[in-house]
Amino acid sequence: MPAGLRNSLSAFHTVGSHMNITLSLSPAAQIETECLAAVVLDRADGDRAKDSNGKDKAELYIASSDKAVQQAAADLIASGDLTGKVFETSWLHKPAGLKAKRLLLIGGGKAKKFTAADLRKLAGAAVRTLKPRNLRSLAFTVPSEISAEQGVRAIVEGAMIGDFDPDTYKSDRKDQKVDSLTVVASGDQNVLQRALDEARIIGESQNFTRDLVNEPSNRMTPTMLAQRAQQMAKETGLRCEIYGADKIQELKMGAFWGVAQGSDEPPALIVLRYEPAGAPEKPVLGLVGKGITFDTGGISIKPADGMEKMKYDMAGGATMIGAMRAIALLKPKVKVIGVICATENMPSGRAQKPGDIQTAMSGKTIEIINTDAEGRLVLADGLCYARQLGCTHLVDAATLTGAVVVALGFANAGVFASDDDFYNRFKAATDKAGEKMWRLPLGDEYLDAMRSQIADLQNAGGRWGGACTAAAFLKEFAEDTPWIHLDIAGTAWMEDAKPWIAKGPSGIAVRSLVEFAREFGKS
Ligand code: BES
Ligand code: MN
Ligand code: ZN
Repeated sequence: MPAGLRNSLSAFHTVGSHMNITLSLSPAAQIETECLAAVVLDRADGDRAKDSNGKDKAELYIASSDKAVQQAAADLIASGDLTGKVFETSWLHKPAGLKAKRLLLIGGGKAKKFTAADLRKLAGAAVRTLKPRNLRSLAFTVPSEISAEQGVRAIVEGAMIGDFDPDTYKSDRKDQKVDSLTVVASGDQNVLQRALDEARIIGESQNFTRDLVNEPSNRMTPTMLAQRAQQMAKETGLRCEIYGADKIQELKMGAFWGVAQGSDEPPALIVLRYEPAGAPEKPVLGLVGKGITFDTGGISIKPADGMEKMKYDMAGGATMIGAMRAIALLKPKVKVIGVICATENMPSGRAQKPGDIQTAMSGKTIEIINTDAEGRLVLADGLCYARQLGCTHLVDAATLTGAVVVALGFANAGVFASDDDFYNRFKAATDKAGEKMWRLPLGDEYLDAMRSQIADLQNAGGRWGGACTAAAFLKEFAEDTPWIHLDIAGTAWMEDAKPWIAKGPSGIAVRSLVEFAREFGKS
């Protein structure tokens, strides 16, 4: 089969993944695999052990309760050749006393600081170490420092994230994927197997989002994004409705339509509904995503340099589609509705122009100052529509502003929240999911920058505090509904490869949203 065809077929598989993941309660020494991975930690706490230069002296050990694994690595640990620094890797071949062909030791840093979030990254790094070496099977032992259940989750999620590479369109793509992962843990089999199954769903969903984000705009038009959502919905039992230009106009989504009117590609309003039997009428969580499949800036056109990256301006929408997939499969007892506003932002003879006035679905009027501030326009109507559908709580995700990248760089997504209690619950979910986000302020000062002389609002508010003024604009459409806004412009795309993840789409926020929805269902 030609690579192109194979790739386009495999890309359409939205459920399931090629990686065969199993749990083993056997001793690590008994696992037959190409490679057994174990974590090396440093017991030194910084105060005690110093070397002759006064530097911290490492006190390394293998973080596995398996004596045979400790024994196999004992000489290497004693040699002093390892630093134990995070992501340091070393190999042992035909390790004595182990059935594995290789033992991969991977540094995890100081034992005291070691968390499940670190373990997730180490598992990703182990997979990314194996891939170019064409090793297809990996076993990973849960370090004794992490609870078995948390460890299984972290290893499965991390391995799946590490397995993803955005090389879909390379004709010499080698498909160097890890086919088989064995997670070695001890504890209650049922509990651990469930953790494994759930983590697999979450990892697959994050990679599903990354696949969508990775596609260029000629292969991920609003219509195609809607088709992908629809197929996923069919496979997972979600209700899915797709609306086009007519319905968008009929709903009087003047802000959304103002962006869409300039494109030959038709827009799509994607609605995904998860309404499980037995869920209470309320609350209803709304997940609203910005789905700009390409952002040229419109008439306020962007510079050519780097414009190709604006294919990822639908990452917020893809995040919500991926989160809905996981929610459909994990089945929390709570209603969740996804609303994705998908369109291109193009300049054309029909495009909106600076100075135009649009009337949003809520009735508020907006003066268009800059057609490149299009995300807040589509979200304004998306948020309003989600409220109309009965959502009692709202979360939106969007690659909304360059300003959030100035403020937080690539390390943290920006979070804005209208309600402290809602925020605290969300924060607990991001911590558990190991995704970094930083709260930024809302406030009337920022809204003041968005007041227009001739309309209720304007869509751009000058140079300073751009992430905050954009959020203040959105809040006018969430109104009094508890609402969280995620600005993922700096985090949805990895600018560089990291040991645990490829350069390219990150799938940020999928895990947090899924964790949040599950907890939300419990309260
Ligand atoms: N999609 C962009 C924001 C963006 C910038 C995403 C960089 C990813 C990386 C958004 O639509 C945009 O163009 N925002 C403008 C707003 C401005 C015109 C008020 C921006 O941030 O410059
Ligand atoms: Mn823009
Ligand atoms: Zn944009």
